[in-house]
Amino acid sequence: MKKIVLSIVALTATTALMAAVNSGACTGCHGTDWSKAALRKSKNVAEMTHADIAASLKGYKAGTYGGPMKGLMKGQVAKYSDEELEAFAQTIGK
Ligand code: HEC
Repeated sequence: MKKIVLSIVALTATTALMAAVNSGACTGCHGTDWSKAALRKSKNVAEMTHADIAASLKGYKAGTYGGPMKGLMKGQVAKYSDEELEAFAQTIGK
């Protein structure tokens, strides 16, 4: 019984992490395969490394990264924790 409860907890935690960043809110600008230059300003995120993406997302949130439209991206990521952004960055780019 204990084992079953533990697996359910683990499963819920994994699902929560995966669902944390709602990529549907991003791909309208970045493209479903992340290769579009969002608003003709962003890099091709599909070509960025996981580490670069993680750094940029956390940087936008902290106000330490970005170009002329960084304010826009801050609004996109401010609601997420660094851990959520880090985990999400591992799922896109290369
Ligand atoms: C309204 C359009 C829009 C939406 C929605 C959007 N982005 Fe962006 N994104 C941009 C623009 C424009 C930039 C470039 C900003 C700048 O000047 O630094 C950018 C930059 C980025 C970068 C860094 C690329 C670079 O140029 O350095 C990443 C990674 C990124 N976005 C991921 C996301 C994620 C993840 C989401 C969803 C949570 C998201 N974006 C939602 C428009 C958008």
